[in-house]
Amino acid sequence: MDVFTAIESRRSIRKYLTKDVEQEKIDKIIESARIAPSAANRQEWKFIIVKDQSTRDKLVEACNGQSFVAQAPVFIAACSTESEKLMPCGQYAYTVDLSVALSFMILEATELGLGTCWLGAFNEEKVKSILNIPEDIRVVGLTPVGYPDENPDPRPRKSLEEILNNEMWE
Ligand SMILES: Cc1cc2nc3c(=O)[nH]c(=O)nc-3n(C[C@H](O)[C@H](O)[C@H](O)COP(=O)(O)O)c2cc1C
Repeated sequence: MDVFTAIESRRSIRKYLTKDVEQEKIDKIIESARIAPSAANRQEWKFIIVKDQSTRDKLVEACNGQSFVAQAPVFIAACSTESEKLMPCGQYAYTVDLSVALSFMILEATELGLGTCWLGAFNEEKVKSILNIPEDIRVVGLTPVGYPDENPDPRPRKSLEEILNNEMWE
């Protein structure tokens, strides 16, 4: 699968088969994060892979009751190990770095025939408590990973005319 096909075919998946995900596929997803770019190549990140069913059951409540978190056999937490650094552009590096890495993982999962769903609706303190994450670490994004049990149509997007300017802001 080429990169654009992965980008185009990816969907947020909220229904999963109970089928296990092969370890080689999990390894490849994590490798996609490991080699992702980051600001000044600082790589201030850590990724937690959760397979344990009882932990995933607990995570449902921490993820605002999103029950598919318990259904998918794998869950990834993308964490920042340093969250103060501002880039010269004024943006925090950690949210950008972790978002790049999570995007790479999600696209690689798509190539491997796996479903994901970026989760921003979660209670960080609860997630940290369940996963034993230290106080100074930030959890930027989460995703379940598993074989999809649904095949959603593409969700609507703004038209190119609405999002694109040429040469200058119009
Ligand atoms: C930053 C971010 C946070 C999101 N949080 C959630 C979430 O907590 N739960 C959920 O079901 N989907 C979540 N989504 C998925 C979006 O709802 C989804 O990407 C959007 O509706 C477009 O659908 P698609 O991903 O299938 O193209 C999130 C997506 C992003 C990028």
